[in-house]
Amino acid sequence: MAKEMTIEQQIVADHMSFRDLYDRYHRSQYNREKRQLLNEFIREVSQHSLAEETVLYPKLLELKPQSKDHVDHERHEHQKIKSFLVEVDYNLSSNQDIIASDKETLSVVEKHFEDASQELEHHMKGEERDDLPLLSAQLDIEARLKLGRQFSIAKMIAPTRPHPAAPNEGGMMETIGGMVAAAFDKTKDVGRSFPK
Ligand SMILES: [Fe+2]
Ligand SMILES: [Fe+2]
Repeated sequence: MAKEMTIEQQIVADHMSFRDLYDRYHRSQYNREKRQLLNEFIREVSQHSLAEETVLYPKLLELKPQSKDHVDHERHEHQKIKSFLVEVDYNLSSNQDIIASDKETLSVVEKHFEDASQELEHHMKGEERDDLPLLSAQLDIEARLKLGRQFSIAKMIAPTRPHPAAPNEGGMMETIGGMVAAAFDKTKDVGRSFPK
């Protein structure tokens, strides 16, 4: 059985995966592979965002109530990233073998992917610098492993596409809204291909 991971280990592993998908996208010379990497990027970032909004951010507020402005700012950055990814998703071709059907649409897709990636990189650096050390300083290993389990479950029930208009304040509303959106997304994901 794979070793259990703390919440910080899971978040860092996800961040590394986003960076890897971005690099692979830029190295790839094949349209179909680029399309699969974008599909995967959208899916992983969407699931990671909901898990942070429902597990990480409420915990940060509980540990440090005076960090409300900081946490609100992080939620706002998630919204920006989702808005860029909605544009990427919307402009992807319905043909699974290509990213976009014409050059103009391709440049729209790539511009929004770049905007999302830049904003995401800035956001991840902030979490790695400010949030994750707070968890390891204030919580023991058992508590961080338990949060790690909650984080994995949240990702499993999370939407696989970005929904910037959905609740992002954490709590039951976001969890239920996320589950409804996830069921809807999964029907749309049928036929969408992902990297091996
Ligand atoms: Fe985040
Ligand atoms: Fe993150």
